Amino acid sequence: MGMKKKTFMAAAFYLLCFLSLLVEGFDRSDFPDSFLFGTATSSYQIEGAYLQGNKELSNWDVLSHIPGKIDDSSNGDIADDHYHLYMDDIELMHSLGVNSYRFSISWSRILAGKLVLFLADLFVHRAKNQTLCIKYKYGGWLNPEIQKDFGYFAEVCFREFGDRVKYWATFNEPNVMIKRGYLVGTYPPLHCSAPFGECLSGNSSVEPYVAAHNVILSHGIAVQIYKKKYQAKQGGRIGIVMSATWYEPLRNLTNDWVATKRLLAFDVPWFLDPIIFGDYPSEMRQILGSNLPIFSSKDKKKLRYKMDFIGVNHYTTLYVRDCLYSPCEVADFNGNAFTYTTGERNGIPIGTPTAMPTFYVVPHGLEMMVNYIKERYNNMPMFLTENGYAQGVSNYTTVKDFVNDLDRVDYLNKYLGMLLKTIRNGADVRGYFIWSIMDNFEWLYGYTLRFGLYHVDFTTQARTPKLSAMWYKEFLQGSDSLLKAD
Ligand code: NOJ
Repeated sequence: MGMKKKTFMAAAFYLLCFLSLLVEGFDRSDFPDSFLFGTATSSYQIEGAYLQGNKELSNWDVLSHIPGKIDDSSNGDIADDHYHLYMDDIELMHSLGVNSYRFSISWSRILAGKLVLFLADLFVHRAKNQTLCIKYKYGGWLNPEIQKDFGYFAEVCFREFGDRVKYWATFNEPNVMIKRGYLVGTYPPLHCSAPFGECLSGNSSVEPYVAAHNVILSHGIAVQIYKKKYQAKQGGRIGIVMSATWYEPLRNLTNDWVATKRLLAFDVPWFLDPIIFGDYPSEMRQILGSNLPIFSSKDKKKLRYKMDFIGVNHYTTLYVRDCLYSPCEVADFNGNAFTYTTGERNGIPIGTPTAMPTFYVVPHGLEMMVNYIKERYNNMPMFLTENGYAQGVSNYTTVKDFVNDLDRVDYLNKYLGMLLKTIRNGADVRGYFIWSIMDNFEWLYGYTLRFGLYHVDFTTQARTPKLSAMWYKEFLQGSDSLLKAD
């Protein structure tokens, strides 16, 4: 046996022992057989081929080409080239032993030329001061017109792919899309107003709520189409996926406790309360008054059909400070609730920091979040649709450093263990998806953050399994699998 092979086997043996230690305490068999284990991706972040296959430009194609918007001046033109390499990538997933895959369908890719595409007429304005905004035909999410177009898009998806798709999510993280797009103006369509940011157009006091209202009703229309025309025939389920950060009071003061409750309401319940109960949370009405739309009887009809599950994207926990009774910095992402969020209390981080500036390792936050949703929504079936760990990129990090991702293994192990605890305590959680199968385009951070179980060399498109890929495989397939696979 060659030296190399011996060293490799020894390394594999130690690794196996190490991994076995880490997953000690629980394994796949602790979860129901029907439990979905998978990985998650999204089209723009992995596909590339941005001008191929009759695709129109998407809002992110435009934004990523605006100088200065993306940290490393990159874009998703090629990304992981998944558009061409998808067969190999599906093979990677198979080799892990997952039983499901969560991905997204970009409407600019599948509706090109067919519909009055709101993205087809997209163009970029450049003002003298370089402030930019992206304009949509008819105003995008600000115009109720979009509800019908979204319904059309959803129906094309149900009709074309519904025989194979068993779980549909109408939206991914609409709370983030709206806040970034219309409150702080860092995502398309780059709308905001002072004090939240300087944008060419927008109104941070009004637009986020108008746009969100149209998202909620678009969701309702899609659910209605699916339930009336497709569900019985195709046997799938439909829901929505929310970004679900857990929040804790910064100080042990009544105001911070109240503010924490308020911010929680301004986040997930902003969308889920109307979808499930028919109206916005009272905390939002109190603060926003008439800036928060009312559900007309016509609107209510659109929400008549009830969805089947809640998707939860959970990564982190942050501290909350009240800014309503004791003024503080509200010009940020969570400022519309008159709250200020931070990952530190007196200079001490809430959990181990990760390369994503707002993501800390706080496993008990997952338990709190799942229980919050469980209690508020009467234990509706839930899926942990995203959970994952970011590695940072510097001039000195080598492929080997990325591949030895013990921090990610530790994170996933702790969060998954916590998820199991919530299930044992009665939460109806039916699946867990790691973000992501491979490193990809992380929005404004470009390729400077890596979330993958597989390392991607973006020059050669080579995929290399990280320790976390082996950990997941070991967890899913049993302790033999690691050595057999190699
Ligand atoms: C949530 C989003 O759905 C995904 O697009 C993003 O890459 C991950 N979180 C990590 O930030």
